[in-house]
Amino acid sequence: MQSKSHWEQVYSTKPPTAVSWFQEHAQHSLNLIRDTGVPLSASIIDAGGGASTLVDDLLANGYSNITVLDLSAAALAATKVRLGAIGKAVRWLESDITNASLPTDAYDVWHDRAVFHFLTSPEERQAYVRAVLRSVKPGGHVIVATFADDGPTQCSGLPVICYSAGGLHAEFGAPFTLLRHEKEEHLTPFGTVQQFVYCYCRKASS
Ligand SMILES: C[S@@+](CC[C@H](N)C(=O)[O-])C[C@H]1O[C@@H](n2cnc3c(N)ncnc32)[C@H](O)[C@@H]1O
Repeated sequence: MQSKSHWEQVYSTKPPTAVSWFQEHAQHSLNLIRDTGVPLSASIIDAGGGASTLVDDLLANGYSNITVLDLSAAALAATKVRLGAIGKAVRWLESDITNASLPTDAYDVWHDRAVFHFLTSPEERQAYVRAVLRSVKPGGHVIVATFADDGPTQCSGLPVICYSAGGLHAEFGAPFTLLRHEKEEHLTPFGTVQQFVYCYCRKASS
């Protein structure tokens, strides 16, 4: 699988702090998750979480039911090493999000930063949306962040699709209501700026 070997190569050759998407704290994501109002026992998945520090901050804030899914074993291994013993409380899934066998009606919160924008074919995007539809609980919360429409056209050397909030919501369609969206200027470790858009949607309750 070409994409898997790309990501294994990235995470095996660079420290997590040296990739363009690195954030010391995923503050936008954390704020949006907190603002959903879900309890600390809520089931949260970080889809394509890579070596993100979001899981560290979720644990530090008391969230106790966290799944991190990523295509790259090396990314998950880096996060496990960083977390040490507290990482044992996390469910780790090495899987492709477009064909992962996720449980049905399982997650209160679905989070994705900088993964959906790599899905350049309609088939991949439809498979992703099917996974969200199936595995997020009725009334569950969906937070997806991609490069914004004025963001870069490549990430990690791969082509991406840039979205407006409306365009991103349209990919998910009627079962999801767009409740909030915001932009972020992400400062990369190299001092460049990347425009992100964050969309917060709610899945219909029935
Ligand atoms: C730009 S990184 C973002 C990582 C993390 N979300 C963050 O914000 O730091 C993209 C991540 O998506 C993962 N990824 C790419 N395609 C994927 C797929 N089809 N299924 C699961 N993970 C994927 C990569 O391994 C990588 O960790």
